[in-house]
Amino acid sequence: MNAIETVLLRKQYGWFFSREKVHALDGLTLNVPENTIFGFLGPNGAGKTTTIKILLGLVLPTSGETRIFGADSQSQNVRERVGYLPENPRFYPHLTARGFLVFCGKLIHLDPMERAKRADMLLERVDLKDAAEQKIKGFSRGMLQRVGIAQALIGDPDLVILDEPITGLDPMGRRSVKQILVSLRDEGKTIFFSSHVLSDVEKMCDVIGVLNRGRLIDSGYTKEILGEIGADIWAEKVSGDALQKAEAICKSVTLKDGKFCFSLDDMSKQEKLAELVQSGGGKILEVVKNREDLEEFFLRRVQEDEQKRNEGRME
Ligand SMILES: Nc1ncnc2c1ncn2[C@@H]1O[C@H](COP(=O)(O)OP(=O)(O)OP(=O)(O)O)[C@@H](O)[C@H]1O
Ligand SMILES: [Mg+2]
Repeated sequence: MNAIETVLLRKQYGWFFSREKVHALDGLTLNVPENTIFGFLGPNGAGKTTTIKILLGLVLPTSGETRIFGADSQSQNVRERVGYLPENPRFYPHLTARGFLVFCGKLIHLDPMERAKRADMLLERVDLKDAAEQKIKGFSRGMLQRVGIAQALIGDPDLVILDEPITGLDPMGRRSVKQILVSLRDEGKTIFFSSHVLSDVEKMCDVIGVLNRGRLIDSGYTKEILGEIGADIWAEKVSGDALQKAEAICKSVTLKDGKFCFSLDDMSKQEKLAELVQSGGGKILEVVKNREDLEEFFLRRVQEDEQKRNEGRME
């Protein structure tokens, strides 16, 4: 089942008669499979926060449908299964971290024992145990972000929606948030988050979606979506003749620890190279495929989409 589905979602900001209308979402159709970490990417102003706010009922769509776990995203049953961290979280500064989490537990009608238990468990999970009794007003950005993640989890949600949870965190903070998200996924939950930190998204997300000007321009499993851009083929006992011929079709050939590494920038040459190596009595040991990294992929796809728009080829 999909945790999130949107169908032809449109959002137009601006009054009906206003000339200054912004088409924040322009027919967004999106599927987020259950029990995955989904990375929602897009340039500034692409419509990521708008999508998230519509899913949570904080902004009304102009048209289109949104479903969470197959039901209308606005239904009470569904809302109870969702945790949310906003883009720029602000919390009551006079409360302590623990006090704030207990207060959040009260808002969702947890009994006092359960509130306290969950608050302590979450403070430990987000590594804020030592700051539990400190007032939020003295917290650094990274600490605030952790409180934000903890409050998103207070209701033990099946779907966690986080708007830029790793932005502004130091490397240790990013790593600890990544570990939390992966452990949530391993517990069976679905995590939907927006981010501009593409290196982390690439490592951690099972599925990604790329939004540009309110439209989804790409979506799929990270491993499948990042195209193969060549391979390193490791071989041994390659004859001199085969080596010479192979050099002509490879980007480079190197020798390491008695093994040859044939680097190809085009996968269509793989078969020809294997024939050459084997015909001279050589043996292929390993084929390591190289993939485009997410940053290259993202920049390329957004640029292609912009070009299409400029050429007026959008349907
Ligand atoms: N309340 C609003 N009123 C008018 N326009 C808005 C409003 N909120 C967002 N927009 C516009 O809608 C578009 C999408 O904004 P949104 O915040 O969803 O983008 P985003 O992808 O989250 O960007 P970022 O990466 O900067 O967070 C932008 O052009 C923005 O200016
Ligand atoms: Mg945003």
